[in-house]
Amino acid sequence: MRRSNPFKPTAGRMPPLLIGRDAIIDDFEEGLDDGPGAPGRLMRVTGARRVGKTVILTEFGRIAKARKWEVIDETASEGLAQRLLNRLTPDKPSMNISIKPSVSIAGLGGVSLGEANVSSQQMPLTLRAAMSQRLDVLERKNAGLLVTIDEAQAAERSDMVAIATAVQHLIREERNIAFVFAGLPTIASKWLNDEVLTFLRRAQAEQLGDIPLQDVRDAFEDTFEDSGIAIEGKALDMAAKATEGYPFMIQLVGYHIWRIAYRRSKNSDHAGSVTVTEQDTEQGIANALSRLGDAVHGPELDGLSPIDKTYLLAMAQDDGPSSTSTVAERMGKDAAYANIYRTRLIEAQVIKDMGYGKVDFAIPYLRQYLREHAAYIRMNSSGTSL
Ligand SMILES: Nc1ncnc2c1ncn2[C@@H]1O[C@H](COP(=O)(O)OP(=O)(O)OP(=O)(O)O)[C@@H](O)[C@H]1O
Ligand SMILES: [Mg+2]
Repeated sequence: MRRSNPFKPTAGRMPPLLIGRDAIIDDFEEGLDDGPGAPGRLMRVTGARRVGKTVILTEFGRIAKARKWEVIDETASEGLAQRLLNRLTPDKPSMNISIKPSVSIAGLGGVSLGEANVSSQQMPLTLRAAMSQRLDVLERKNAGLLVTIDEAQAAERSDMVAIATAVQHLIREERNIAFVFAGLPTIASKWLNDEVLTFLRRAQAEQLGDIPLQDVRDAFEDTFEDSGIAIEGKALDMAAKATEGYPFMIQLVGYHIWRIAYRRSKNSDHAGSVTVTEQDTEQGIANALSRLGDAVHGPELDGLSPIDKTYLLAMAQDDGPSSTSTVAERMGKDAAYANIYRTRLIEAQVIKDMGYGKVDFAIPYLRQYLREHAAYIRMNSSGTSL
């Protein structure tokens, strides 16, 4: 019998078990249940790449839909506010916008909204009017509106201003709305220091991080068992430990171990009960690691400046946490200079502050990847030497 691999090592895909996110889910559910003004109704979710931001937005959407709420989930890219507007008014595709820049808010009551492009000056008011009209309908059914924006770090400022302004007013008017935006940790410096967007600073901050290994272990045990393959003892411990609690690595490790054990069982005579061996586990972890490099480490480093990378290469010479003064020395720079890059890399959640003048990598296996690819990375960070 052909069985399908239960693990989902693909960006944005719901995992077989959503592990270790009870606290944030409780905050969100409480927000919906407590009504307008509850902190969980305005939330910003940040975390490193592949830590599970998109998945948590999908889960929030599921929770809201179960309460009969309408959910609009958008991903930030050019034209975000306009797309949001189009989705709020799908039944009026052919109507033209009739708002003139001079129209006052009181004049918006009977306005028709549609596919026509709205200018960025007009967008906050138009969006607010469209959301308000949607809420009129939803609230009559005791329902509400959840808007989620993924990849918020990539939004255009004018779109963010329009959406934040509209949502801010609706929250103040105690409408039945919830707004969650998610993105890389850089949204903090990008949006929250912007005067026009102070409203976003008040959003409840939720940082997604690693998942405790015991939870990973339990989830592996259950997921494997449900799919007809057993994993236990040393193999199970090894598998859980190799993930370092990083959500994407959980899926990768699970996927590759499962695949190897399944193939072995298919080729053996006595199909039926299969148990993962330590050898399956070792091979699965190795395969997972090479995929992790392509999917996470490579793109993460591509997004950094040459000097950021020089800083990381200097850190990778250590086997554990690095002293910031030693890193500066290796870079041939003074402490103040190195500190600029230290701060940037901490903000981007690539490294973490360990206290006592030490830093360590925040992304699993990044040290190993840097060592293996050092020559290549150095060559492409031309202009800096190490
Ligand atoms: N709580 C979790 N438990 C188990 N697996 C998870 C969990 N959250 C996410 N995953 C898995 O991790 C991977 C990454 O999830 P997701 O795409 O949501 O991350 P992301 O933070 O949105 O990444 P990116 O920054 O690249 O957009 C997926 O394979 C997903 O199935
Ligand atoms: Mg995502």
